[in-house]
Amino acid sequence: MQIQFASSRPSGDYALVLPAKGCDDKRLDSLTGDAAAARKALERQRFEGKKGTAAETYLAGEDGRRLLVVGIGKGKAEDAEAAGARVSARLMTSGETQAVIDLSDAGFDAEGAARLALGAAMRSWRYDKHRTKIKDKQKVSLQTVTIVGAADGAQDLWEDRYKAVYEGTSLTRELVAEPPNIIYPATFVERVKEWNKGNGLEIEVLGQAEMEKLGMGALLGVAQGSVKEPKLLVMKWNGGKKGDKPTVFIGKGVTFDTGGISLKPGPGMDMMKWDMGGAGAVAGAMHTMAQRKAKANVVGVCGLVENMPDGNAIRPGDVLTTMSGQTVEVLNTDAEGRLVLCDCITWSQKNLNPARMIDLATLTGAMVITFGHEYAGMFSNNDDLADDLLDAGKTSGDLLWRQPLAEAYDRLLDTPIADMKNIGPREAGSITAAQYLQRFVENDTPWAHLDIAGMAWSDKDKTTYGKGATGYGVRLLDAFIAEEVEG
Ligand code: BES
Ligand code: MN
Ligand code: ZN
Repeated sequence: MQIQFASSRPSGDYALVLPAKGCDDKRLDSLTGDAAAARKALERQRFEGKKGTAAETYLAGEDGRRLLVVGIGKGKAEDAEAAGARVSARLMTSGETQAVIDLSDAGFDAEGAARLALGAAMRSWRYDKHRTKIKDKQKVSLQTVTIVGAADGAQDLWEDRYKAVYEGTSLTRELVAEPPNIIYPATFVERVKEWNKGNGLEIEVLGQAEMEKLGMGALLGVAQGSVKEPKLLVMKWNGGKKGDKPTVFIGKGVTFDTGGISLKPGPGMDMMKWDMGGAGAVAGAMHTMAQRKAKANVVGVCGLVENMPDGNAIRPGDVLTTMSGQTVEVLNTDAEGRLVLCDCITWSQKNLNPARMIDLATLTGAMVITFGHEYAGMFSNNDDLADDLLDAGKTSGDLLWRQPLAEAYDRLLDTPIADMKNIGPREAGSITAAQYLQRFVENDTPWAHLDIAGMAWSDKDKTTYGKGATGYGVRLLDAFIAEEVEG
């Protein structure tokens, strides 16, 4: 779907969209001959102008043109975004090919209008590639959304910032939605390369042999039960001052998590195709950085592996030597994400001199028990970084809630067999996973771990996404860079 800005309504056939604060909104007067009937129709639908709501009618004076009225709530940027999203949700398969959203006198500033465009774009995303038998009536009809009467600067804000955010989110959603026989470590890398041709993002890839030389025994341990070669994907965006230490994003990219020898139960195991949601978010955020030419140095590091049961797979009881030199007793091969991430953290510190590290991972089922699908959990060794991320969560809508780290939790990882074990007791499962990762952070480098287990995928339609891959994390990381590193 294409989004464009125009100074006046075009001629021809389109659905007219008016954001309104209720049935008595003066903006409906612009419908002249149709205004009274439209108001009556909206009243019948109990339209009150609330955030994310919509009502529909037809304009007799304009050959039965469809009129969609969307609520503007309190008129804030997030309300505008919800209104834009509502337009796409309502019209995507409606049969309309063009929608014209008239914002004249609606009261949105440039940020609001650009966020309305973002909402419309985000909610229009679909991935039908593997469906060959969609009925014509179910196919997407909406091709263009034209925004008329937006405040000055809105178009630039869309083109220079939010369009890139939408594109990054789309890459993430695509990677997450693709089935695990299509996206595995090598094809994840290929897909990221295809999306970033010629945009200046520098891509480096380490294969199995290189990682063996570096002693990445934990990541490689997880990968050894799979016939798919593991990859370490490194994406560099040098948009900041030369010599400025980079912000490093690290993503868990388990392209399928069977649990390994500690095999997961059968029902619902297919969901573990999105166990690469952290890596997907990092790849999407890096795409956004490059597409919008962010004025910051940012590096994305993705640990890509598949976790399979096999004659060559790691066993419960195995001891692995991590890249840091620390040894780990693997007591559950299903706690594999932390094994992948710990070597990514060490690799980043040895190679990138990070100003700060932020890792994203669908790490624990316990996180879903804690927050359901509304917040990701955040763990950090640094209060400033934690506060900045909380702020970015609020402005972007990718919400976070901070969780504790403490010595007493760390002790739960001790074992007489090695330097640590890879699981704690059942209690506080998300916290002990974070404590495990913290053991690999050197010299108090500011670090935050985001457990996004409940956020990468949605079982139901929400404001800016349909059922399926959400793209969680891209907007958060983009907002963090914009507000804290560029700003
Ligand atoms: N990928 C899973 C975590 C997960 C579970 C994410 C459900 C989303 C939904 C992770 O690798 C895992 O299996 N974690 C285990 C850890 C346990 C063995 C300590 C878990 O959460 O059960
Ligand atoms: Mn697992
Ligand atoms: Zn996993």
